[in-house]
Amino acid sequence: MKQHYPFPLVPLPYPYDGLTPELSKEILTFHHDKHLKTYVDNLNNLLAGYPDLQNLSLEDLLMQLDSLPKALQTGVQNNGGGVYNHNLYFACMTPEKNLKPEGELLTAMNRDIGSYEEFVTKFTAAAMGQFGSGYAWLISKNGSLQIINLPNQNTPIAKGIKPILNLDVWEHAYYLQYQNRRAEYVQNWFSLVNWPYVSELYLQSC
Ligand SMILES: [Fe+2]
Repeated sequence: MKQHYPFPLVPLPYPYDGLTPELSKEILTFHHDKHLKTYVDNLNNLLAGYPDLQNLSLEDLLMQLDSLPKALQTGVQNNGGGVYNHNLYFACMTPEKNLKPEGELLTAMNRDIGSYEEFVTKFTAAAMGQFGSGYAWLISKNGSLQIINLPNQNTPIAKGIKPILNLDVWEHAYYLQYQNRRAEYVQNWFSLVNWPYVSELYLQSC
C-alpha cells in the first residue's frame, strides 16, 4: 500500500467470481472496476496539479489532510479514503472460505473483545449501526484491538490509527445481489475474511 501518485488501480487478488456465492461476479466487477476506479481516477486528477505532493504515499496524504491545500482536503479525504479503504476491503477477503483468526491475533481478540464469537456480534452491530454509507473497522492501537464504524470514506489512518480489517457497507457493496438486506450481506461476509492477512497487518501494528 506504499504507492504514490499516480496511484494504480490495484487488481483484485482473486478472480471476479472467486467469492461466489457470497459476493457475485457482477458485484465485484462493478465494485472494483467502476467504483474503486473512479476513486483512483479522481485522486490522481486532484493531485495532477500539485507536483510537491506527488511523492507522498496514500497513508501520508490521509494523515496530513489538515496541512494539504484547502482546495484539496475534502477531495483527498473522500477519494484518497476511497482508494485506501477499498484496497484494504478487497485484500481482506479470500476465496478460501471459513477461516478463523489464530495465534497472536486470536489472543488479542480474546483479551480485548472477548472471543471470536463476540467479535462477530460486535462487528455486526458496528456494520448494521453505521447509518447510511460507511465501514465497520477493526483497528489496532499498538496491539490493542477495537471495533468502530465511520461514515462515508473516512478512515482511521487519518488519525494515525492502524486499521487491520474493514467491511464496506455502502449500498454499492451489496445492493446488486442483496438489495436492502445489509444484514444478510454482513453475515455472509464473515466467511470470506482473509484472517492470515489480517494477522499480518496486526503483527505489523504491534
Ligand atoms: Fe465500496
